[in-house]
Amino acid sequence: MSEILRVEGLTKTFSKKGIFRSDSNFVKAVNDVSFSLSRGEILAIAGQSGSGKSTIAKLILKAIEPDSGKIFFDGKEILDNSQNLEKFRRQCQMIYQDPYDSINPRMKIFDIINEPLEIHDVKKEERRKIILETLHLVKLEPAEEILEKFPHMLSGGQRQRVAIARALVTDPRIIIADEPVSMLDVSVRGEILELLNEIQKKNNISFIYITHDLATSKYFADRILILLSGKIMEEGNVDDVLTNPKHEYTQALIDAIPQLNPKNLYKEKNN
Ligand SMILES: Nc1ncnc2c1ncn2[C@@H]1O[C@H](COP(=O)(O)OP(=O)(O)OP(=O)(O)O)[C@@H](O)[C@H]1O
Ligand SMILES: [Mg+2]
Repeated sequence: MSEILRVEGLTKTFSKKGIFRSDSNFVKAVNDVSFSLSRGEILAIAGQSGSGKSTIAKLILKAIEPDSGKIFFDGKEILDNSQNLEKFRRQCQMIYQDPYDSINPRMKIFDIINEPLEIHDVKKEERRKIILETLHLVKLEPAEEILEKFPHMLSGGQRQRVAIARALVTDPRIIIADEPVSMLDVSVRGEILELLNEIQKKNNISFIYITHDLATSKYFADRILILLSGKIMEEGNVDDVLTNPKHEYTQALIDAIPQLNPKNLYKEKNN
């Protein structure tokens, strides 16, 4: 598999507002992180709350500036080349935990999904067809009716499908999904992950799947990075890392998940 994205030595420090100015007022949210993503690959980034997962996503999308580091898309550096960055912005889309982070509650579904097409100068007469096709892809039916609705008229799962449609409509090569199912009702989490899986295969999209949930990583991802305090603790094939963790922090994360912990399986069987 050939490489589509590479991150080298990404570092970001935040200053915490405190009364005193000292080193402890700074937090290295992302600390010398390097990894690569192949075409069609699903890479999970997992770690506890505050380990720097979302900061990595924001740095890749240039929503915030890194202190240092480089990002290559298709072999080209994007951080200090505005032309490459513009191309990358169309090719890399984000799905958030809360669909309202990417959809405006006052806009109709049509306008929500149309907006990225407008931004990227897709011809007006082509847009409706693309939007309807995208709604079919995310299984929001009947598509013509859904287009006329406002977000509050939909269920949580349907709203996340709208956010997914918005991310997909420009036919991106990379999707970064930051905890895309953790706000949803347990009953629809599986459906949404299955949908992402299906779309990933159909369009051969590369995914960065950010989560603190190793169980869904095992289901969804090919490879995994385990993050602690902004540093990569270990990385590898998701099955290898989860069945044979090299680092005790990974083991601790595994132990925290009932369905992955052999001891718990044993308990369940004997109860
Ligand atoms: N804008 C900011 N200003 C100051 N500190 C920040 C900012 N954004 C993040 N941080 C800090 O950086 C660290 C990493 O945060 P980040 O949001 O990347 O973690 P995360 O792994 O996504 O956590 P969660 O699982 O809770 O979403 C945390 O200590 C956080 O408090
Ligand atoms: Mg986060």
